[in-house]
Amino acid sequence: MQQAIIQAYRVEGRTSPRPPVGAVVVRDGHIVGAGATAPPYGPHAEIVALTMAGTQAQNADLYVTLEPCCVTIHTPPCTQAIIAAGIQRVFVAQTDPNPLVAGRGITQLEAAGISVHMQPTIEASQLIRPFTTYITTQRPHVTAKWAMTLDGKIASIAGDARWISGPESRTWVHDLRDRVDAILIGANTARIDNAQLTVRLTPEQQAISQRTTRPAPWRVVIASNGDLPEPLALLQPALAERTIIIVGESCTQQQQQRLLAFGVRVLPVANDATGRADLLAALQALAGEGIMHVLLEGGAQLLGSAFEQMCIDDAVTFIAPIVIGGAQAPTAIAGRGVAQIQHGWSLDHLRVQQSGADVMVTGTINYQAYLQSTTRA
Ligand SMILES: NC(=O)c1ccc[n+]([C@@H]2O[C@H](COP(=O)([O-])OP(=O)(O)OC[C@H]3O[C@@H](n4cnc5c(N)ncnc54)[C@H](OP(=O)(O)O)[C@@H]3O)[C@@H](O)[C@H]2O)c1
Repeated sequence: MQQAIIQAYRVEGRTSPRPPVGAVVVRDGHIVGAGATAPPYGPHAEIVALTMAGTQAQNADLYVTLEPCCVTIHTPPCTQAIIAAGIQRVFVAQTDPNPLVAGRGITQLEAAGISVHMQPTIEASQLIRPFTTYITTQRPHVTAKWAMTLDGKIASIAGDARWISGPESRTWVHDLRDRVDAILIGANTARIDNAQLTVRLTPEQQAISQRTTRPAPWRVVIASNGDLPEPLALLQPALAERTIIIVGESCTQQQQQRLLAFGVRVLPVANDATGRADLLAALQALAGEGIMHVLLEGGAQLLGSAFEQMCIDDAVTFIAPIVIGGAQAPTAIAGRGVAQIQHGWSLDHLRVQQSGADVMVTGTINYQAYLQSTTRA
């Protein structure tokens, strides 16, 4: 199963809107076939591995990180191919969260006389999380990331944010960028930082991950009226092709045409109650484009909206050992906030580790207390 997981890791961020899956065919203790989900809409991992194994798949074992599919969605059911190949035993790390499959794949295999064994692993369940969010909520999985000083600031009083976190943390973020479908920022961050939102991996990172090549992740800016200045890096030809600008109802046709002329894509969405482009609608529009995992990189206002709309799934925070002060310097999360500490958003599956000189805190967001808060009304 570890080998199947390694296969899946190689295609993380390269399979959307399908999950990254790995599979290996083992016969007499030797791997005779291995593969991962092809880019959309090529074969599933099982088919890649079975094709490589050829006739050696007869009476062999199949290890797969996700339950084989039993329905035709772009490609024929993997269950039929597994049965036809003469596989004897199937080891599955994770059942498919897709309601169209959800255990039926396993039932089909067992009905054909194949013995199926569940072999759950933490890695396999982590790999499937973006797809689970996507298929069950119709919006992308959202990982929010921010870097802050010891006093909770994400930029100085002058708007300077480069760099709060150290090189080790930034290297880690580039690896994360390489595993998501899109990087999302607010209009102010685009204007102030003029970020390029590119993936820059070190040769060591590339060698370790062995990920397959892919187009750059989408760079997404949410800007209600589309008011973004022309020198912006994301509007230049080299980056515009993979840039999406999400605009609200206040963005005129003329403004949309101006943006389109740069070569970016424009996705209009409805406004929220504050008159800005609605973040949840924006995420749903991105899901409609097949975007399954979004990395939300700030700034404070957009993170505030995301917490209040309860659409952050995971958080990654870097706390740098520096204090910069300034009452007007932005803290990490803006928005209305909660009135009482007990109604705050808390982190489950908390992990705290050192990242160079920074402290890295990761976790999944728990909305239970916030849901009970009266400030939501
Ligand atoms: N340290 C870090 O990790 C980090 C990361 C990112 C940014 N930063 C810093 O943060 C600062 C910018 O943060 P910020 O809070 O001012 O701005 P922001 O969150 O980047 O952008 C906010 C703007 O986005 C637009 N927007 C559209 N729809 C929205 C929605 N539903 N919710 C929220 N915003 C929406 C609005 O502008 P329109 O009205 O024009 O639409 C809004 O004013 C910069 O100084 C930057 O350097 C730090």
